[in-house]
Amino acid sequence: MLFYIVRLLLYYFSLALHSILLNLLFMHNYFKAFVLLAFALLNFVTLQAQSISATTRWHWDKGTIVIDTPKRPSGQQHVLNLATPKIQNLRVAFVGLGMRGPSAVERFCYIPGVAIVALCDYEQQRADECQRFLKQAGLPPAAIYSGEYGYEQLCKRNDIDLVYIATDWNHHFSVAKSALLSGKHAAIEVPSAMNLDECWQLINLSEQMRKHCMILENCCYDWFEMNTLHMAQQGVFGEIIRAQGAYIHNLDEFWDYYWKNPDGDDPSKLGWRMKYNLENRGDIYATHGLGPVAQALNIHRGDRMQTLVAMDTKSFNGKAYVEKQTGKPCTNFRNGDHTTTLIRTAHGKVIEIQHNVMTPQPYNRLYQLTGTKGFANKYPVEGYAVDSKQLEANGHKPKVDNLSAHGYMPAIEKEALEAKYQHPILKKYGKTAKEVGGHGGMDFIMDSRLVYCLQHGLPLDMDVYDLAEWCSLAELGALSMDNNSAAVAIPDFTRGLWNKQQGYQHAYATPSDERKVDVASQHFTTLQKEATAKYNLWALYQQVLQAKTPTESARFKKIYKKAADRAQDYIQKRLLRR
Ligand SMILES: NC(=O)c1ccc[n+]([C@@H]2O[C@H](COP(=O)([O-])OP(=O)(O)OC[C@H]3O[C@@H](n4cnc5c(N)ncnc54)[C@H](O)[C@@H]3O)[C@@H](O)[C@H]2O)c1
Repeated sequence: MLFYIVRLLLYYFSLALHSILLNLLFMHNYFKAFVLLAFALLNFVTLQAQSISATTRWHWDKGTIVIDTPKRPSGQQHVLNLATPKIQNLRVAFVGLGMRGPSAVERFCYIPGVAIVALCDYEQQRADECQRFLKQAGLPPAAIYSGEYGYEQLCKRNDIDLVYIATDWNHHFSVAKSALLSGKHAAIEVPSAMNLDECWQLINLSEQMRKHCMILENCCYDWFEMNTLHMAQQGVFGEIIRAQGAYIHNLDEFWDYYWKNPDGDDPSKLGWRMKYNLENRGDIYATHGLGPVAQALNIHRGDRMQTLVAMDTKSFNGKAYVEKQTGKPCTNFRNGDHTTTLIRTAHGKVIEIQHNVMTPQPYNRLYQLTGTKGFANKYPVEGYAVDSKQLEANGHKPKVDNLSAHGYMPAIEKEALEAKYQHPILKKYGKTAKEVGGHGGMDFIMDSRLVYCLQHGLPLDMDVYDLAEWCSLAELGALSMDNNSAAVAIPDFTRGLWNKQQGYQHAYATPSDERKVDVASQHFTTLQKEATAKYNLWALYQQVLQAKTPTESARFKKIYKKAADRAQDYIQKRLLRR
């Protein structure tokens, strides 16, 4: 008990200092070095992330839980439609290289115009192993960082534009904070924030530093979702009034493989993800289901999620797993095996989101849109129900006579509709994405769009308010369920600006700018490969790894560094010639 009280006091102390330091940072550049130092110290006292944050203040208002919204600090501007200076050649670092991270490194090797500068994992071997993707691609070796705080050293480098984060959930926030404070863009795996406090802090950091903080929600880029979004935006389904999404995926075969830190907070070796389920209620992985439907419903682009209620089953399989693993009774497994959240928007639409990673059943993201004039559904049957009259009114001549919306349209009609409404992003990246892969290609499309928008200085497809809205379901749902499934008012993370933009949109460069950037990107990647071969970087890197004594190691490192510097010179000189 005493331990928890001390931890809580330390947590409050750290939060108070965080906000003072952020204000100082915003007021005066002189304090920047001091702020960074203080943040490094504060990391020692920050608690593990939990769905209910210690800073959340709420009260009852006519039977609804209303949460205080922290004021936007004076002088701080919103980041809706944030456009940052163009970065022709994007320098990327990866933090977190377990099951998920390495595939991101591999995908980025296929994206022209990218330099992979650094790789970081708690376990050095995991970072080292990812060098193989760079070697296979003929790209230069990356710098390696490891240990609990290796990412802080990485973030101090001044040759990184983007930090791509795929750690366990407890580290997403601290890595992103470090990246943003050191002036880098951050892209964070899902869920990118674990509670409301982390949501607000990421919003403040993005607003203060004028840097992107993107949620890596790959399910927004799957083929059916993208084409359906395009159809919805062209009015094929009339007005969307209800939407559904989910993450239903039995993780039995994965539990054993999540990273374990038995010397830290996981003595029972449950792995971080099972431990997080054990300790936290609410939909803790809501974004695969919510992201794509929030875009179709224009959330914070003309509508907003206003109220939610949540209900879960008790824990059956989660509890049994922990008991089997630990050999002890488990009396308080917080996360129900199946959690359902219902959300109502300001314009009277309803969203239903489900989460179940515990029971055996087919994989299902439940993606469904119900419109006033039509219907789209992905699982288990992928199809559309729209009648001939509606299609014709929308300028599409059906191939089949008297098409009715009482059943799914035949395959031939579905294919014609998808061909007509193929999303422009799929047209650009679809073919390569299928070849490169990553959940069937959607991961590659997400990464390519991220690079494209940063290269062209365009707003990203998902901003920090999307991140906060989609991730907030965990804490809001937990509050609802801990209070007998009461209604919870959803905070407006834009702080009053949810109606400023009208309609969700992807940003595009002009065709001529696109061509110029594509050519320059290919050139940069070719130069990196030429320089790597010319200066024999991989052989010299290997020599460093194989050094037998510290003296030998120092000597080989010096040789490698000289070659790597010359390779960089070679690239820079040729870039200047263009
Ligand atoms: N979008 C998707 O489809 C998708 C799929 C799988 C996983 N994910 C997400 O990716 C993330 C990683 O999941 P995973 O399955 O790879 O988990 P994992 O347990 O396999 O990997 C986590 C990694 O983080 C590393 N790590 C821990 N502390 C660190 C620190 N301080 N600094 C650097 N690295 C640290 C661990 O060493 C480990 O290698 C999670 O957020 C998960 O939700 C997303």
